[in-house]
Amino acid sequence: MTLTCISCGKAHFPHERQNVCRRCGQPLRADYFFSPEGIDPDEHLIDHPTLWRYQAFLPSVSEKYRISLGEGNTPLREIEYKSRRIYLKDETGNPTGSFKDRGMCVALSMARALGISRIALPSAGNAAVSAASYALAGNLGCLVYLPDSIPGQIVDEIKGCGAEVVLAGSTIKEAAAAMAEQLDGSWFNVSTFKEPYRVEGKKTMGLEIAEALGWEFPDVVIYPTGGGTGLIGIWKAFQELRSLGWVRQKMPRMVAVQSEGCAPVVEAFLSGSATTKPWPKPHTRALGLNVPAPLGGEWMLNVLRESNGTALAIPEDHIAPARERMQVLAGMPVGAEVAVAWRGLELLIEQNWIAPEDRVALVVTGDDRRYA
Ligand SMILES: Cc1ncc(COP(=O)(O)O)c(C=O)c1O
Ligand SMILES: [Zn+2]
Repeated sequence: MTLTCISCGKAHFPHERQNVCRRCGQPLRADYFFSPEGIDPDEHLIDHPTLWRYQAFLPSVSEKYRISLGEGNTPLREIEYKSRRIYLKDETGNPTGSFKDRGMCVALSMARALGISRIALPSAGNAAVSAASYALAGNLGCLVYLPDSIPGQIVDEIKGCGAEVVLAGSTIKEAAAAMAEQLDGSWFNVSTFKEPYRVEGKKTMGLEIAEALGWEFPDVVIYPTGGGTGLIGIWKAFQELRSLGWVRQKMPRMVAVQSEGCAPVVEAFLSGSATTKPWPKPHTRALGLNVPAPLGGEWMLNVLRESNGTALAIPEDHIAPARERMQVLAGMPVGAEVAVAWRGLELLIEQNWIAPEDRVALVVTGDDRRYA
């Protein structure tokens, strides 16, 4: 495996503590040297009840550094909606109730393998709960910067894991700015795309989706988009499966859905821009999507365009009713972020952008525990 800058292509040696590209500051991508085509998946996947089943697709971390709370291996539930087959990738059963656990599992395990003992990140909520839980399990120090709008119950949950909490600003962007100012070098920054391995953990969602479909891709993937690690991770999984020859089908169309209250990715996609511009006065009740200046903006836009996908923003007042409708149909409690994705699905079906024969995977990123 090697690390490559997604923007300028500079190669970085993987076995050292580092964050972003030393030359241009953009995210680093893990590239694997896979064996030749045609190898049987059964030889490469291990029988393991967590995401470490896919260790052949992950950075190598020896057992003694791995932290696991039982993340991954989540169900793909099939429902019918408007004569379409919809596959709900149900991430609510992860240890802290969201898909964030996949990223933290791999990133914090790697951090331990690299000799790191303290990690820090800004978060809109779920990532901090997950980071604090994995840090506790892995005996790492944990410091999180949260916007001051964060519900008190989330702060208590994080403190309950022994993490230090700083409240700063009204969005994750401001919390991140405070962290950048105050953090000393003893803390390793595990913010979204400020290290290369959270996205590798998220990638296992794409591997699981393809495996559950009998090593096939869906036609469309719908993703509630904030920082974008899930969207990019799933796409990366599909690319790697294609390069191995395990799946030979056409790549799926990737869809980013955001709230009109904070839609920098949608705005950049629709205006043909290569990068996102910071979203002024971001506001959405879907806290995980309140990311006004995602570092992975350029990478997300590449994925959306390369996949012939799309991006759409839904009105903030559609979130609560969409959530009600989805919960009744799907029979599972979901968070506001998932309701944003569901509303996107409804609209794309109305516009026939999703055709009746399309098989759609929608990522149910988190449960309703932190629905404010
Ligand atoms: C439940 C939920 N869904 C979606 C997102 C957005 O995820 P990503 O950063 O991968 O775009 C978040 C991020 O906090 C989240 O908590
Ligand atoms: Zn670079």
